[in-house]
Amino acid sequence: MSRNMLKGTDKRTDKPFKLSIDRGTYVADGAYVRTDGLRKIKRTDSDFGLLGYDPAYLNTASCKSAITYIDGEEGILRYRGYPIEQLAEQSTYLEVAYLLIRGTLPTRDQLDEFSERVNSQTSVSEDVLSFIRGFPVGGHTMGMLVGALGALSVFCDDVRDFATEEAQDRHICRLMGHVATLGAAVHRHSAGLSHVPPDPDLGFCGNLLNMLFGEVDPVLAHALEVLLILHADHEQNCSTSTMRAIASGGADPYSAMAGAAAALYGPAHGGANEAVLKMLNEVGSVDKVADYIDRVVAEKELRLQGFGHRVYSNYDPRAKIIKRVAYEVFEVTGKNPLIDIALELERVALQNDYFVSYNLYPNVDFYSGIIYQAMGLPVRMMTVLFAVGRSCGWLAQWRELLGDSEQKIARPRQIYTGEDVRDYVALDQR
Ligand SMILES: CC(C)(COP(=O)(O)OP(=O)(O)OC[C@H]1O[C@@H](n2cnc3c(N)ncnc32)[C@H](O)[C@@H]1OP(=O)(O)O)[C@@H](O)C(=O)NCCC(=O)NCCS
Repeated sequence: MSRNMLKGTDKRTDKPFKLSIDRGTYVADGAYVRTDGLRKIKRTDSDFGLLGYDPAYLNTASCKSAITYIDGEEGILRYRGYPIEQLAEQSTYLEVAYLLIRGTLPTRDQLDEFSERVNSQTSVSEDVLSFIRGFPVGGHTMGMLVGALGALSVFCDDVRDFATEEAQDRHICRLMGHVATLGAAVHRHSAGLSHVPPDPDLGFCGNLLNMLFGEVDPVLAHALEVLLILHADHEQNCSTSTMRAIASGGADPYSAMAGAAAALYGPAHGGANEAVLKMLNEVGSVDKVADYIDRVVAEKELRLQGFGHRVYSNYDPRAKIIKRVAYEVFEVTGKNPLIDIALELERVALQNDYFVSYNLYPNVDFYSGIIYQAMGLPVRMMTVLFAVGRSCGWLAQWRELLGDSEQKIARPRQIYTGEDVRDYVALDQR
């Protein structure tokens, strides 16, 4: 008998059950049972069987994935096995995108070909740009990005054709190129500025900066490479799961990415960098930090934005890297005074029993907004930049989903807690 077995007795019936225990790459945290196996545990033959109940998927794996590995207790993040620290230090965003999507680091020729394909797709049709011009100036740029991504599914006429790898590659390169241009276009439009057309010769991050600001500083372009690498993927988070769920129903990748971007928008997810900046402004100065931390501890509904994570119970490795990048950016832009408030918040929080006992550490969003703001972006653009970086991760996960024969339409079950059957009462008799 295999030792990799969970055995027990259903005390309602005194019948034994067994579930096999399988595992992923790592023994320590990869062991799992298939919850559809619970269905065999029944009181009677006609019984539905046991369901697993897991609100917010705290303990449910929805897929097998070979893309990103996180060890939340140790503070480890790896893309395709490569530590995030090495990638952030030594690679470029497009190299990482290639790695996430295709599974291996590219050779020089492969990277050149991929870069050429993505960068050439930063040209967006005039129809799409005039669609963006229909949004009110001053409107929130994340709402505009969500709308524009969804609109691409109408403006591109081949969106339903994604059965072959070649077609998938076409959509991946187009979406990665287009999302950069859409991100810059919604910023320029919302700020009442004229559109800056793409210049693929500037490279992905240089071109993105140029489309945002009309100029490129090489130090800022390098900082942006690092920021986008850190945002590129984070396994089955809220927006990635949304991308997979929408695509599982057969929708095109443009509609799925609009849904993923909408999921990212929320302050508990990618909108946290925007919430952090609002919070830092509310705190106002370093001498008010201790009071603010006391308030967070005392008021249950007040959260320290940019702190805490569903998966990390340790320092988010991305936050460590981002903190370093901030100072590189300040060399060019001058210091964003909010960094001092953020550093003090981190210092005071990490000495506070509440934050220590809940394992709450800074996450990626704690410092990223400060950097984007120093570069000259308004608060409403913080999550848009996150979405540009995350686009390659969403697409890598989309492609993995399409090739996964175990996947079907995502359709959770529920535990019904409503009324038992009852008879309709006519309107005039209620
Ligand atoms: C990221 C986040 C949504 C994870 O949430 P989660 O895994 O569902 O954990 P919960 O919301 O259940 O929080 C667990 C406990 O820690 C507390 N907590 C979590 N994050 C907190 C924060 N940032 N500030 C204060 N308390 C926090 C909660 O109040 C809760 O306490 P309780 O069990 O006594 O009710 C949450 O930490 C958060 O809201 N952080 C701030 C927003 C943020 O930075 N999001 C970006 C994530 S990359």
